Amino acid sequence: MGKEIYAKHCVKCHGQNGRGEMAGMPDFSWKGADRNGLSRSDPQLVGRIKVGKGICPAFHGILTDPEIMNVVTYLRTFR
Ligand code: HEC
Repeated sequence: MGKEIYAKHCVKCHGQNGRGEMAGMPDFSWKGADRNGLSRSDPQLVGRIKVGKGICPAFHGILTDPEIMNVVTYLRTFR
């Protein structure tokens, strides 16, 4: 389910492999120190995705909390 939401709302910027389609994007497949936000806890990441960051749109009102949680779970599979 997270994969479907990612495909619909995130893939155009974050890419099929989670590495990002433009310069300066986080690489979700990066396993090292925090360069992609994924070292945050699940609730922190959900909050982050709700408010957005820079070019990353705010998904509050577009996706529900459980939907965002599913995407967060999917993001972690890129590692
Ligand atoms: C319009 C392009 C775009 C879309 C659509 C988009 N993002 Fe992003 N995202 C970005 C960019 C650019 C950054 C880097 C922002 C920065 O560091 O200033 C980013 C950063 C992030 C980060 C890291 C935040 C952090 O704290 O470092 C996460 C997590 C993230 N996006 C998740 C998502 C999810 C999940 C979706 C879909 C629900 C999504 N993004 C949709 C462009 C996008």
